[in-house]
Amino acid sequence: LEDNQPDAIRAFREENAKRIREYPQDGEWNVLSRQWREAAFRRQYMYHFSWLGRPIIQMPADMVAVQEVIYAVNPDVIIETGIAHGGSLILSASILSQLELFEAIASGSVLDPAKPKRRVIGVDIDIRLHNRSAIESHPLSRWITMFEGSSVSPDIVAVVAAACRGARKVMVMLDSNHTHDHVLAELEAYAPMTTSGSYCIVFDTVVEDMPANVFPNRNWHPGNSPKSAIADYIGILRSTGRSAADGRPLQLEIDNTISDKLMVSAAPGGFLKRI
Ligand SMILES: C[S@@+](CC[C@H](N)C(=O)[O-])C[C@H]1O[C@@H](n2cnc3c(N)ncnc32)[C@H](O)[C@@H]1O
Repeated sequence: LEDNQPDAIRAFREENAKRIREYPQDGEWNVLSRQWREAAFRRQYMYHFSWLGRPIIQMPADMVAVQEVIYAVNPDVIIETGIAHGGSLILSASILSQLELFEAIASGSVLDPAKPKRRVIGVDIDIRLHNRSAIESHPLSRWITMFEGSSVSPDIVAVVAAACRGARKVMVMLDSNHTHDHVLAELEAYAPMTTSGSYCIVFDTVVEDMPANVFPNRNWHPGNSPKSAIADYIGILRSTGRSAADGRPLQLEIDNTISDKLMVSAAPGGFLKRI
């Protein structure tokens, strides 16, 4: 049985991958998913969840995808823009601390929560006092560092860059102001900090695929969205090139295999992998 197991696992994965590759051509499945997603956004569905006690503003499917990406990349630093109530910081911190626990188990040592080896760096222009104190008093707070200010201000970008110095693997998640210009500036600032093989995840790309009236009191809409910013940024990388923080050329590729399986994600085409 043991000898057959790797083949069985490979076959299971290949079967799944084949099914997922067929999803984009499945008209009925796509129409239903799009309708469901639009109905969910009109009802502020993504505000109704929490992660280990803190409200998180994410689609549940995206939370699973984030867990999968963090586990696969195994970063020592995650940069997040957009803290709100802190749920996404706690999600990242929970997986990072779990990775440390796994390492401790594998090496026969003990996890010392007073000395975390990994951390999540959160940036928000407005960290409300009640949110800050709830995050700071959370059991996972030692894995979290917060900076208040605009994610695109040079001072904030500099402190985040300094906080990443020496990190082996850095992952980035952008979830603050969702206008084209702001996300493009965030990509310019933070995408180069993504290490090779890791991801820069851009949330709310879904804005591009929805009628403008789904977000009535916001500055973002189709044509002025995280997805339009990604298209511009990837075009800039292809035509003029950019260097990553490690000095090597920065090459980002949209990993559609993740959005293709999620179907009801807020980040379709937003999972950018550094090659
Ligand atoms: C969608 S919420 C973040 C949700 C959070 N990531 C989560 O999953 O629970 C967006 C946050 O971005 C913040 N924000 C808006 N403009 C910003 C900017 N220029 N720089 C940094 N944060 C900003 C807002 O204050 C708000 O807390």
